[in-house]
Amino acid sequence: MSSAPLTPPWDVHRLPSAAGKSFLVTGGNAGIGYFVAEQLAGTGALVVLGSRDQQRARAAMASIRARVPGAQLRHLPLDLADLASVRTAADGLGLDRLDAVVHNAGIALDEPPRRTTKDGHELMFGVNHLGHVALTRELAPLLAAAPAARIVTVGSFAARSERLDPDDLQSARDYRPGRAYGRSKLAQMSFAFELDRRLRVRGSTVLSVVAHPGGALDSLTPSRAGVHVPTLGTRLRGLPAGLLLQGKDRGAWPIVRAVLDPHVQGGQLWGPRAFGLRGTPQLEAARAHMTDPTAAGHLWDASCDGVGVEPHLALLQGASDHRPRTSRGPAR
Ligand SMILES: NC(=O)c1ccc[n+]([C@@H]2O[C@H](COP(=O)([O-])OP(=O)(O)OC[C@H]3O[C@@H](n4cnc5c(N)ncnc54)[C@H](OP(=O)(O)O)[C@@H]3O)[C@@H](O)[C@H]2O)c1
Repeated sequence: MSSAPLTPPWDVHRLPSAAGKSFLVTGGNAGIGYFVAEQLAGTGALVVLGSRDQQRARAAMASIRARVPGAQLRHLPLDLADLASVRTAADGLGLDRLDAVVHNAGIALDEPPRRTTKDGHELMFGVNHLGHVALTRELAPLLAAAPAARIVTVGSFAARSERLDPDDLQSARDYRPGRAYGRSKLAQMSFAFELDRRLRVRGSTVLSVVAHPGGALDSLTPSRAGVHVPTLGTRLRGLPAGLLLQGKDRGAWPIVRAVLDPHVQGGQLWGPRAFGLRGTPQLEAARAHMTDPTAAGHLWDASCDGVGVEPHLALLQGASDHRPRTSRGPAR
C-alpha cells in the first residue's frame, strides 16, 4: 500500500494566494525579475518593482497589469550602484512591513576595463552584493515587522567553480570579468547563508534563502510587450540552447517558490530540477565552499565595512527593535 505524500507537489502554474502580503523585487522591470514580479502579482500580493529607471518600471507594470487584472504594483526608485540611493529607498516604500525581498537585480560584464560604482566598489561586487547588503540593512525593521519574512537571494551556478579571495574581494589586483561576476554571486550566496545562521542564533522570524534560475536566456523567453520582444531571428538562433537551458519565465520558478512555499526553510538553496539548469524547482545541496563559515565571517565584516554599517547589529534587528518608518510618500 502506498502512502499519500505529506504535502501536495508544488505547481508553478497554481501558486498559493498571498493576498495581503507585500513583496519587493529588485530589478523587477526586466529579465528574471520581471517574471518573478509577474508571477507574484498573480497571487494577489502587492509587488514593488525596485528599478533605477522609471520608464522601464512603468512599462513592466503595464505589461503585468495586462496579464494579471487587478495586479497591485508599485515602483520603488532604486540604484544599487549608489549606496546613498539604497539608504533612502526603504523610506520610499511607504509600508510598515514587508513579507519578502528578492535580491534579483544584477549585472554581468564580459570584458574589461574594471568599472566601479558611485562609491568606488568594483561594479559587479558593488551592485550584485554590496548594494543588496545595504538594502537588507535598510529593510531589516520592515522585514522583522512581518510575521515570517524572507530574504531571497538570487544566486548562480557561476558561483560553483569560484572561490573568494579574502585579500582581494573586489578584484583590484587581478581583474577578470567572468571570474569577478562568479565571485560576486558567490559572495551573495555565502553572505545569505551566513545571514540565515545569524538570524537563527538571534531567534529571528526572518528567513534568508538562496534560489537560482539555472541557465535562463532572453532568446528562450516569451515576449512581453514593452519589456522584452525578441525577433524571430533571435528566437531561431536560441532554439538549440533550449535543449539544455530555459527562458527567464521559467528561471523565475525557483525564486518564486522560495518566496511563497510555506515549507521552504532558512538556509536552503533552490534551483531547477534538470542538472540545476532547467525545469521545475527543487531543493539543492549547497557546495561546501558556499557555506564555509570562516570565509563567510570574513566576507560579512568586509561587506558591513563596505556599506558602512555596524557588523554585529544592523542587519539583524529583531521585531522588538522595530520602529515604523516615517513615510516620505508611497513608492511609484
Ligand atoms: N540569466 C541567467 O541565466 C542567470 C543565471 C544565474 C543567475 N542569474 C542571476 O539572475 C538575476 C537576474 O538576471 P537576468 O538574466 O534577468 O538579468 P537581466 O535581464 O540583465 O536583468 C537585470 C536586472 O537588474 C537590474 N539592474 C542592473 N543594475 C542595476 C542597478 N545598479 N540598480 C538597480 N537595478 C539594476 C536591471 O535593470 P535595468 O533594466 O535598469 O538595467 C534589470 O532589471 C541576476 O542576479 C543574475 O546574476 C541569471
